[in-house]
Amino acid sequence: MNDNFTIHKTDKPKEKPDQNSLGFGKYFSDHMFVMEYTKGKGWHDGKIVPYGPISLDPAAAVLHYAIEMFEGMKAYKTKDGRTLLFRPEMNAKRLNITCDRLCIPEMDEKLFLDAVKAIVDFEKDWIPQGEGRSLYIRPFIIADEVFVGLRPAEHFTFIVFLSPVGSYYAGGLSPTKLLVEDEYIRAAPGGTGYAKVGGNYAGTLKAQQKAIGMGLDQVLWLDGVEKKYVEEIGASNAFFVIDGEVVTPPAGGTILKGITRDSCLQLLKKWGYKVSERKVSIEEIFNACESGKLDEAFATGTAAVISPVGELTWKGKKIAINGGKTGAISQRLYDELYGIQTGELEDSMGWTVEV
Ligand code: PLP
Ligand code: COI
Repeated sequence: MNDNFTIHKTDKPKEKPDQNSLGFGKYFSDHMFVMEYTKGKGWHDGKIVPYGPISLDPAAAVLHYAIEMFEGMKAYKTKDGRTLLFRPEMNAKRLNITCDRLCIPEMDEKLFLDAVKAIVDFEKDWIPQGEGRSLYIRPFIIADEVFVGLRPAEHFTFIVFLSPVGSYYAGGLSPTKLLVEDEYIRAAPGGTGYAKVGGNYAGTLKAQQKAIGMGLDQVLWLDGVEKKYVEEIGASNAFFVIDGEVVTPPAGGTILKGITRDSCLQLLKKWGYKVSERKVSIEEIFNACESGKLDEAFATGTAAVISPVGELTWKGKKIAINGGKTGAISQRLYDELYGIQTGELEDSMGWTVEV
């Protein structure tokens, strides 16, 4: 552990939740990591403290202008008791890409990794074991400077908290039903779509609520200019298998460059699949389905891992994908990724980092 971090231990440790009813994001461990940024001083005073509410001035910039960014990653406990992180250096890099977009000061990648490792190691008893379970890690930064004028902030707080989780979707690996959203958009060129900022998510709720009201699970986003090309699936990246070719939209400025997406691309290429990062229109997908060439579709993300798609609804028209069942490629990717993440399979890609 970084010797510069101080530790304040809770005197009220919580009872651990029932492992069979974890769900996603409902329970939190006993401690969190907190560090401040002050202009002229940089990031300083990293510490582990009891998990609990934080106090903010009503004029804190984050509350008014959404100067906030976050990351999402997971820790796994192996059968032989080791703690593994999955490609955490990618989260460190993406954190800085996001920070740059919001004029938040950069954080040294090693400092970020030290902080994540320190809190995960301290809370390792909170990592649940068993199929689909992990410790979700939520690092985030808020501008807590007290100033109502609009300009880049000069004081920030970085926090990492931990949540023992099961599956993101209640149905686990069972295929989801998506609404192809043709009214609201998530991102536009020149905006913040490629960055992991809280402000990107608030604007998606209306569409998600619409999908759920229609008895569907999630939204498939189209591009913000023509509403023609597929972009993302809720808070995850989108993949389609069309006539044997695995296609995912290119990570331009409007989609989040997922770490799971990159891992899937690398595995698929290694396995010899034809893989393309290219624009794919929703029309191409519906046409492929009609001519029997849409083999499968799936979403990728830290929270969801691999989530197969069983049905799409676009402008009132419904199509079923792979008979509404999990496809072979989705299953193979899930088995391989989850196997590497949990230490059950050999990590031939060198992706896991032991804490
Ligand atoms: N797209 C969005 C909008 C997300 O919020 C996420 C989740 O982090 C992803 C994609 C998937 O990214 P990753 O695989 O790095 O979790
Ligand atoms: C993640 O996959 O880490 C996410 O950020 C999704 C989140 C909205 C729960």
